Amino acid sequence: MPKSIIIRSNGGPEVLGIEDVKVGSPGPDEIKVTNHAIGLNFIDTYHRSGLYPLKLPSGIGLEAAGKIDEVGSNVKRFSKGDHIAYASMPIGAYSQQRIIPEKIAVKLPEGISLKLAATLMTKGLTTHYLLKQTYSLKAGETVLFHAAAGGVGQIFAQWANSIGAKVIGTVGSEEKISVARENGYAHIINYSKDDFAKEVMKITKNEGVPAVFDGVGKKTFQGSLSCLKPRGVMISFGNASGPLDPVNVFKDIQSKSLYLTRPTIGHFFTNPKELQAGADEIFEKVKFGKIKIKISKEYKLSEVTQAHRDLESRKLLGPAVIIP
Ligand SMILES: NC(=O)c1ccc[n+]([C@@H]2O[C@H](COP(=O)([O-])OP(=O)(O)OC[C@H]3O[C@@H](n4cnc5c(N)ncnc54)[C@H](OP(=O)(O)O)[C@@H]3O)[C@@H](O)[C@H]2O)c1
Repeated sequence: MPKSIIIRSNGGPEVLGIEDVKVGSPGPDEIKVTNHAIGLNFIDTYHRSGLYPLKLPSGIGLEAAGKIDEVGSNVKRFSKGDHIAYASMPIGAYSQQRIIPEKIAVKLPEGISLKLAATLMTKGLTTHYLLKQTYSLKAGETVLFHAAAGGVGQIFAQWANSIGAKVIGTVGSEEKISVARENGYAHIINYSKDDFAKEVMKITKNEGVPAVFDGVGKKTFQGSLSCLKPRGVMISFGNASGPLDPVNVFKDIQSKSLYLTRPTIGHFFTNPKELQAGADEIFEKVKFGKIKIKISKEYKLSEVTQAHRDLESRKLLGPAVIIP
């Protein structure tokens, strides 16, 4: 029987258990997929810990790429053997084989491997909506991105550079400085050592930046507000260091007429057409070398506990995949 990671209670990485599961046949609007590579994302740790609640017991994981084994009777877009990828609910991507709704899948073009696709969907689509839809990043602008050496961070600077924008990045250790530099960050600040807000003000000659992209959350929120220009945009898209404290609109926002948004990927790619178009844009950038992806580590399905430990202890130097 295929194996899947199941959580029966919330907690640390030790709650990730490997179990045999029965898969069955797809319903009319579903496809049955053998996963060949699974994306490891920070959001998986929120689901595991209970920060983002799930009904338990539950599978875990949102992103994978694989080959179709069987299609439901209404499915027209896909056939058996197609290479596909997906990155959204229903949860349960940490599995060898599973059934998913056809509408969440995208078809992979020639030249995009299953491993690459499993690192690109969540992180690429997040970058896509962050710099094209949440904020329309323009040539000549300099913005700030936190956790520059992380999965989303590596794609973000490369994409921003391809538009003609510059990015200041923060990293949590000295060894991540070179990773951020390789990915195109114009300035890199080690925020474990230096006050990033002061450094950003120095770099921008006291002007501040027009936008901050903050997936770190609790630890960086106030500093991020302080280095925004008047009418700047604060994009809080994650909480790697913990969820945000309540925002004091008068003190935090009114003082510089700032804009604050807390976006989520699902609100930007709302139907199969938008999803396929967004994914195709990313695949094209990768195929033409505008975005280069280096997978930093591969884990077996039986090693997911270690994968979560490494991710949460900030050891990873970029995107990682699980090979089931
Ligand atoms: N809203 C959305 O639609 C959406 C979609 C995808 C991802 N996200 C968010 O985007 C962020 C990046 O995701 P990712 O999967 O690419 O992860 P990642 O950036 O590879 O990993 C998170 C990074 O956060 C930094 N960090 C700072 N304080 C931390 C702490 N106390 N504990 C752990 N890490 C800490 C670490 O980098 P340093 O060591 O350099 O500080 C770590 O590498 C996450 O917050 C994720 O939830 C949001």
